[in-house]
Amino acid sequence: MNKLEPAITLASLHKDVRHDSGPKHVTGTAEYIDDMIEPAGTMHAYLGLSTNAHAEIINIDFSATKAAPGVIGVLTGDDIPGENDVSPSHKHDEPIFASGKVQFWGQPLFAVIAETRDQARRAAHLVKVTYKDLPVSLDVRAAQAAGGALVTEPLKLERGDVAAGMAAAPRRVKGSMAIGGQDHFYLEGQISMAVPGEDEDVTVFASTQHPSEVQLMVAQVLGIRHHAVTVNVRRMGGGFGGKETQSNLFAAVAALAAKKWNRACKLRPDRDDDMTATGKRHDFVVDYDVGYDDTGKIVAVDAVYGARAGFSSDLSGPVTDRALFHADNAYWYPAVRVRSEPLYTNTVSNTAFRGFGGPQGMLAAERWIEDIAYDLGKDPLEIRKANFYGTDTNNVTPYHQTVADNIVHRVVDELETSSDYQARRAAIVKYNAGSPILKKGIALTPVKFGISFTATWYNQAGALVHVYKDGSIHLSHGGTEMGQGLYVKVAQVLADAFGVGLDVIKIMGTSTGKVPNTSATAASSGSDLNGMAAWDAARQIKERLVVHAARLYQCSEASVQWVAGGIQAGDKFVPFAELAASAYLNRVQLSAAGFYQVPKIHWDRATGRGHPFYYFAYGAAVSEVTIDTLSGEYTVDRVDILHDVGRSLNPAIDIGQIEGGFIQGMGWLTTEELVWDDKGQLRTKAPSTYKIPLASDVPPVFNVKLAEWSVNKEPTIGRSKAVGEPPLMLAMSVVEALSMAVASVVDYTIAPRLDTPATPERVLMACERLKGGRQ
Ligand code: MTE
Ligand code: HPA
Repeated sequence: MNKLEPAITLASLHKDVRHDSGPKHVTGTAEYIDDMIEPAGTMHAYLGLSTNAHAEIINIDFSATKAAPGVIGVLTGDDIPGENDVSPSHKHDEPIFASGKVQFWGQPLFAVIAETRDQARRAAHLVKVTYKDLPVSLDVRAAQAAGGALVTEPLKLERGDVAAGMAAAPRRVKGSMAIGGQDHFYLEGQISMAVPGEDEDVTVFASTQHPSEVQLMVAQVLGIRHHAVTVNVRRMGGGFGGKETQSNLFAAVAALAAKKWNRACKLRPDRDDDMTATGKRHDFVVDYDVGYDDTGKIVAVDAVYGARAGFSSDLSGPVTDRALFHADNAYWYPAVRVRSEPLYTNTVSNTAFRGFGGPQGMLAAERWIEDIAYDLGKDPLEIRKANFYGTDTNNVTPYHQTVADNIVHRVVDELETSSDYQARRAAIVKYNAGSPILKKGIALTPVKFGISFTATWYNQAGALVHVYKDGSIHLSHGGTEMGQGLYVKVAQVLADAFGVGLDVIKIMGTSTGKVPNTSATAASSGSDLNGMAAWDAARQIKERLVVHAARLYQCSEASVQWVAGGIQAGDKFVPFAELAASAYLNRVQLSAAGFYQVPKIHWDRATGRGHPFYYFAYGAAVSEVTIDTLSGEYTVDRVDILHDVGRSLNPAIDIGQIEGGFIQGMGWLTTEELVWDDKGQLRTKAPSTYKIPLASDVPPVFNVKLAEWSVNKEPTIGRSKAVGEPPLMLAMSVVEALSMAVASVVDYTIAPRLDTPATPERVLMACERLKGGRQ
């Protein structure tokens, strides 16, 4: 057995164990930051946001604000002892408070500090700001027309001879696809509470996926060292990438006020201000040129991925990189050149969102597959299969990594059979022929998603495990819990490692004081990284206990065995609690810090070559829809999913992640539309105008299965695979099914080219466009 794997599998690993906070979530007793008991004298902060997308600030008049009831003071850039910057890319391009000029509508200008939240909020609206307008560039096309200024260095991936491939290709298709953004719509909004301590110390309770970065930012803003800042996160009410960097500013403002007035301070924006002032999924426009042959095999791909980055770099570099890394989805391109354009715009700085650019890259691939299929009069599934990565020379990605673990053929074949795809498609074609108004569509789309942070150094994790004298255990690690079930999975790993029940393990909130220098809980890597780190800590303690037991019970170390509930030392069974107690009396250390770094991966961005992903996660989905061609309204009637999580650490949690990921992806691609007006103000900033899927939008038939035969070829924890992000992309099948339904209005002779979100309006307009004979 590989020495990285747990030596024993006893109690709970690979079993359906419920979320550790499940009962607390449904009874309302799980504690979020706004539920915490506030220290005496806690102040409340509220941000003042700009009402201009691009302008010089001529004057700010705070007189009415300062005179308002309960106001303690106002914070601006001038009150920052350290640096006025929370840029996660360290490009120093993201001020906490704009000074001199504003670069997007909703940019924080100042914070009001008051005795109550309501007083702070009301006073913030009394400020009078005088602006001098500057020209605005709001979206991808406008930014390209204005010269294409970029917020960070673009990436190019290239393999093979694209010019020769295009020249030789019997057929060519060119097009553009507009792909919309998405608001995270976490249930718990951004929030931080800071409590000042002695000297420079400050403790911050933040709703963040990245406590170590919040620690760094608070230190940078206060001009102090990291060791003076402790960041604690028990849980988030959802993050979805929106709390990977966007929490920095809220934590920094709370800490700034706490240290200035030596009182605790809490900051929680209203939902509309949260939506206006924080970044979202990047919207893209992908311009493509694809060469292919008469059978539908792709010969060459040349594409440019323009993304609305917003006013600062944030994570737009790595997000647009990941879009290029997924420009292939599951398909082999003999020759390929893809380029990113992270464009500067006068909008909020876009950020991480489940999939991190990957979904946008993959959706564009599905678009040209569809173009090819309609050109050749074939089922798009046939074109998909004809272009899947193979096992020969046709398995090298645009970034020169070999796809060594390809299971897409098996996943797709099994789903095609289990969902009865062929018969249902034939029935739908027949139905459509006899139904003039209502039309149906069906589509099967694959997913291949690369697992690892492409910033290689992020692929590390730490854990801290204490065993107490009574045999109870404290578990801390660097991962954060946002509802995805990470905490229970890592607890399962530890329980199995020690052969104890889950009740023995106390899951501790995440704290920079317990485990330092952690990575964001992101890139679906939480259980891969922290599970291994916790296992490593357990291994160290177990090794010491084996030496101790052999000495105490006078047997060889080899004869000490870990069994359920304790150890077997020769003939003697010793319960775990008894072993811990005797180890303490014999001065054996019962605490350990575990560590893990992902092996094998490397990536050279300058040359566009490497092995950035440790492995790939696969999946496939079949969606069936019905559209009304007179109104554009539609329903998603049935969805079948087969998804690969390797050997699942917790099938119940994983199925929940797949269902949730799919529905979130479906929202992104169908009803969730972000609209900025021509002045740059976000107009869809509340659930009344921004439509996330409802419980009633869940398809009435929703069959979700794990590929139970799949085992990670790499020695990950329990041979599992990451699950957090990949299922979101299964929702591409909904767009493709809508496309088929739309195409049926012209007997499938024109590629429908639906942009996303494919709202009912867009579906209706596409039907009309096709009826008019236009692509
Ligand atoms: N599930 C819930 N319930 N809430 C969340 O915020 N975030 C997703 C996913 N699933 C999220 C979620 C995102 S964006 C990621 S990257 C992963 O969970 C992170 O957790 P993991 O690495 O432990 O899978
Ligand atoms: N997803 C994928 N890759 C990433 C992320 C993420 O959230 N953050 C940094 N790299």
